[in-house]
Amino acid sequence: MPELENIARLALIRKLSDGNYHSGRQLRQEMGMTRAAILNHVKILRTWGLDVFLVQGKGYCLSSPLDLLDEVRLKVQLNVPDFSLIPVIDSTNQFLLDRIDQLVSGTSCLAEYQESGRGRRGRVWFSPFGTNLYLSIYWRLNTGMAAAVGLSLVVGISMVETLEKLGAKDIKVKWPNDLYWQERKLAGILVETRGQVGDVTHCVIGIGLNVAMTETSEVNQDWINLIKTSSTLPDKNTLAVALINGINETLHEYESTGMKGFVDLWDKYDNFYGKPVKLLLGERKIKGISCGINDKGELLLETEVGITSYIDGEISLRSDL
Ligand code: BTN
Repeated sequence: MPELENIARLALIRKLSDGNYHSGRQLRQEMGMTRAAILNHVKILRTWGLDVFLVQGKGYCLSSPLDLLDEVRLKVQLNVPDFSLIPVIDSTNQFLLDRIDQLVSGTSCLAEYQESGRGRRGRVWFSPFGTNLYLSIYWRLNTGMAAAVGLSLVVGISMVETLEKLGAKDIKVKWPNDLYWQERKLAGILVETRGQVGDVTHCVIGIGLNVAMTETSEVNQDWINLIKTSSTLPDKNTLAVALINGINETLHEYESTGMKGFVDLWDKYDNFYGKPVKLLLGERKIKGISCGINDKGELLLETEVGITSYIDGEISLRSDL
């Protein structure tokens, strides 16, 4: 897609972001575009997930105001070596992976819309424009591949702590890399690594946090928006800054303490601690009581044969009791 086209589309979004009506004539004059060009751009914005409508005699309007990311504010407030705000991107994880050899730990990338947002296990991460947070952080682990297992766990803990400080309540972690609120998914974390065994591990930690997404048929699991969990949350820029700065601090700490320093915190925020669960491991289904994690970040399940640790799988509550 030609960059110039997106610049015009982003300018149009900024105008509409106040949630007010903007007449076609006003937009044509202010943006120096023809009627047909505006109509074409609006068509594309709808494919980006924006609910733009046109009312005869009033003009174009968004169904609700948009809280947009602001590069200048982010630059001032982010405590990271480098960051990029790329409003329209394929995937923030892919952006960092493509530049992995030149990055310094903490380098971050944020977007308003991902054309090919990806989730765990090859799933798509639905990424409509402007309503959620999509961000990635690069981290270099000198301790090797094993430490990468714990990354998504400590990032989850860090996010819960930050969100609590900002006024959210009852947010939980779900092993190994989700945030939950009342049994519904609030955020997902995808860690992608590059490197050879025995050498440094380059990690890209991608975070998708539902903030104010409207109802959609694109997500086929129970999900929740952050704004539903609390009435005192700040704007998206403050949220992004607090999360990224918090994660940076946490990752520095993780480098010095390893997972050991985080096990108690995990247990405190664990959505399933002490509950009957099932773990799907490929074709296998293991039933047990969730006992938190060990100091490698592995899941501990108590079954008939005792407590066993697992490094992979999808955990869920058991409803067959
Ligand atoms: C999951 O729960 O499956 C993980 C979802 C991770 C989504 C984020 S959004 C920002 C970053 N870029 C991507 O393409 N994916 C991650």
